[in-house]
Amino acid sequence: MHYVGFAEMAAAVSNAGGLGIITSLTQRTPELLAKEIARCRDMTDKPIGVNLTFLPSFTAPPYPEYIAAIREGGVKAVETAGRSPEQYMPALKAAGIKVIHKCTSVRHSLKAEKIGCDAVSVDGFECGGHPGEDDIPNMILLPRAADELKIPFVASGGMADARSLVAALSMGAAGMNMGTRFIATKEAPVHPNVKQALLDATELDTRLVMRALRNTERVLKNKGVDELLEIEREKGATLKIDDIHEQIAGVYPKVMIDGEMDAGAWSCGMVVGLINDIPTVKELIDRIMAEAEAIIRQRLTGFLDGTIEPARTRAVA
Ligand SMILES: Cc1cc2nc3c(=O)[nH]c(=O)nc-3n(C[C@H](O)[C@H](O)[C@H](O)COP(=O)(O)O)c2cc1C
Repeated sequence: MHYVGFAEMAAAVSNAGGLGIITSLTQRTPELLAKEIARCRDMTDKPIGVNLTFLPSFTAPPYPEYIAAIREGGVKAVETAGRSPEQYMPALKAAGIKVIHKCTSVRHSLKAEKIGCDAVSVDGFECGGHPGEDDIPNMILLPRAADELKIPFVASGGMADARSLVAALSMGAAGMNMGTRFIATKEAPVHPNVKQALLDATELDTRLVMRALRNTERVLKNKGVDELLEIEREKGATLKIDDIHEQIAGVYPKVMIDGEMDAGAWSCGMVVGLINDIPTVKELIDRIMAEAEAIIRQRLTGFLDGTIEPARTRAVA
């Protein structure tokens, strides 16, 4: 997560039993990424991962050098996203790195399997960030992925709590990936305004931008996003990325570091409607695991023996 996936965030997730992921491109150079990985290692002795995002950007980052920093930092799991990692697979595999490719469709997941990815992260239409252009939500996408894939996959997009986890498992996923939910934690290294915005927002407050550019992104509505949408309406199919430069370039540091919540487009998932507190990462993960157990033992067993309680909204009181 751009400007969120710093060492502090990744270490907190790994220390709590998850796989914390550092965002490589938030580090402006491969040297800075190497330092961030080292900083994270000082905060956790658990496995960590690094995200490598291939997206259209104003200047192309030096990916081979980023991969070298990941390899030399001893990181054994890389989450790729944006475009197929095919051209970088030999380098990643030679370094003994497991590759989890984030995909928004079954066909991209199958391609990832074919080129040797170890797992995929199946990112439904609900997700914060780039949901692709097919608009298939996870209730359909996950079972479709389960029907087609041989490699394991995690469910991504709209995952927030134990209900998400149990649902994801039941639809064939091996686990779940959370983005937006982790920003609303004590350890998330972002401005308090961001966490407050997540508490205040509902599931109705995200918007899709850059559709005309086939680079759709789900973002949290704010003044900058309203301006962006207005420009998109005016330009229609003639929209160019330069037309919305002000509303998308350099927004992340303004939002995440300075807390300027109206600065423009920053990724946020519909799951924001399920966020009502700011726990520590450990409290969040422990709660998810405990409530998942309760759902499985009580609610799902109740389904089998006919004692299921109707309309229960949370797993445990
Ligand atoms: C603030 C923010 C920044 C993100 N930045 C990236 C990124 O740089 N690269 C990437 O692959 N995904 C990025 N994502 C997407 C997440 O990695 C993840 O796929 C997504 O948040 C899952 O959906 P959820 O938000 O509903 O949990 C970002 C998400 C958020 C909320």
